[in-house]
Amino acid sequence: MVVPNLKEAMKRSKENGKVQTIHYVLEEELKGIAKGKRYFIKTYGCQMNEHDSENIKALLEELGFSQIDCMEEADLILLNTCAIRENAHNKVFGFLGRIKNIKEKRPHVIAGISGCMAQEEVVVNEILKKYNYIDLVFGTHNIHRLPQLLSAVLSKKESQIEVFSKEGDILENMPFKRDSKYKAWVNIMYGCDKFCTYCIVPYTRGRQRSRKKEDILEEVNSLKKQGYKEVTLLGQNVNAYGKDLEEKYRMEDLLLDVSKTGIERIRFVTSHPWDFTDKMIEVISTCENIMPYIHLPLQSGSNTILKLMGRRYTKEEYLTLFHKLKEKIPNVSITTDIIVGFPNETEEDFLETLQVVEECKYDSAFTFIFSPRVGTPAAKMEDTISKEVKEERLQRLNERINYYSKCANESYKGKIVKVLIEGVSEKDEDKVMGYTETMKLVNVKADKATIGNIIDVKITDVKTWSMDGEAV
Ligand code: 5AD
Ligand code: SF4
Repeated sequence: MVVPNLKEAMKRSKENGKVQTIHYVLEEELKGIAKGKRYFIKTYGCQMNEHDSENIKALLEELGFSQIDCMEEADLILLNTCAIRENAHNKVFGFLGRIKNIKEKRPHVIAGISGCMAQEEVVVNEILKKYNYIDLVFGTHNIHRLPQLLSAVLSKKESQIEVFSKEGDILENMPFKRDSKYKAWVNIMYGCDKFCTYCIVPYTRGRQRSRKKEDILEEVNSLKKQGYKEVTLLGQNVNAYGKDLEEKYRMEDLLLDVSKTGIERIRFVTSHPWDFTDKMIEVISTCENIMPYIHLPLQSGSNTILKLMGRRYTKEEYLTLFHKLKEKIPNVSITTDIIVGFPNETEEDFLETLQVVEECKYDSAFTFIFSPRVGTPAAKMEDTISKEVKEERLQRLNERINYYSKCANESYKGKIVKVLIEGVSEKDEDKVMGYTETMKLVNVKADKATIGNIIDVKITDVKTWSMDGEAV
C-alpha cells in the first residue's frame, strides 16, 4: 500500500533532472487477463481528466475489459475523480453509496477510484476508514501502473492502494481510446508550479513537466493521418510550456510547429495571463489553423484579492493583455473563470470584478464560489463573509455573464461561419451539432453525411448557450 502524502506533494526540487520519461509497454503476460469482463467508468472534472480517462479505457481494453454504460452490470466500476471544489468531492462520496449497494448484490465487482481525489491524503484516509469495500485506488502519477494493480486485485483478491506523491514523470507511448474520431486532446505538459493559493492542482498533479516537441509533433502528425480535424493542446498552464526544458523552445515555437503540420484546427487550454507573450499573440493571429479562441481566467477583478490569490498580475495588467488580444487577433472569442467569495472579499472587491466583466463582455465564463481545499494556503485564511452573501454575488455575476454571452451570440445572427460537425444534436435528432472556430456550439440543419467535416453554416437563431444554423 502506498498512500498519498501532502508534504511530499508540496515539494518542488530545484533540478529538472528529476523528471523522468517513462516509455509505457504492457507486459505480454498481462494482455487479455480480464477477457470477457466489463467496465464502467465515470469521469469528473476538467479536460485533463477526460483525457486521462481515454488513457485508462485503452489500458483496460488491452487487459481484455470491454466498456459498458450500465454500472449495475459491470465487473469493474471506476470513478476518475476531480478535487477542485467541494461539490466535485461530495458527488464522488455520494456515488460510493450506490457502489456499495451493487457490491452487496454482486461481491465480485471491483470498485476503483483514480484521479485527483485519489491524490489527496485526507480522501484516501477517509476511504481506508469508512469505505473499505473499495478495491483499487491509484493517482494521477500511477495511471501506467493500472495493469499491474488490477492484475494483483484479480489474482490475490485483495485491495490495491498505490498513490505516488511525487513531482512527476512524463509517460510516453501511452495508448488512448479517444471519445471522438474528429477532435483529439494532446497533452503538451503536466502539472503546475504556479501555486495559486486556492488551488489544489499543484498538489494533485505535481510539478510542471513539458513533453518534448518531437513527441507532441509525432502525436499530432499521427492524428492528422488518422483523419482527425482538430487538436486541443492540453496543460494546466500551456503558456508556460517549455520553461522547464533545457532547449529554448516555448509555447510560440510549439504553436508554430503544430500549425505547420497542417492539421485543420488547433486549440489550446488553459492560458494563465502571466505567461502570455507578444510572440504567442503574433503566431495565433497569423496562423490560420490556430483557432481564435482563448480561455483567459480572470479569477477576480480586485487587486487585493488577486494578490491574496497569488495570481501574479493586477487587474490593469489583465485588461491590457485582454485588449491586446482583442486588437491583434481578428474575431477572437475570449472566455474566463471567476471565483466569488474568496476569503474576505468585500462588496467593493466584488464590484471591481463586475466592472471587469462589463469592460470585457466575455463570450462566456465559468463562475464559482470559493471552496476551501485542504492543504492550500487559502483554506487557512479566516473568512467572515456569509454563504448567503457569496451565493447572492454568484447570482449577480451570472446574470451579467449570461447577458454578455447572449450579446456575443447575437452578433453571429445571419453570418456564415465554419463549423466542425461532430455528431447528431442532443437537442434534435434531425440535426447535427458542432463548434465554430470561436468555440460556439451550433445545432445545424444539415445532412448526417456532414459529420466529421468542416462546413459553412448560416446562423439563423441564437440563444445564451448555443446557436441554430443551416448548412449553406
Ligand atoms: N474554489 C473555487 N473555484 C476554484 N477553482 C480552482 N480552485 C478553486 C477553489 N478552491 C476554479 C478556478 C479555475 C477553475 C478551473 O476552477 O476558477 O480557473
Ligand atoms: Fe482537473 Fe483540477 Fe479537477 Fe484535477 S482537480 S480533475 S486537474 S480540475
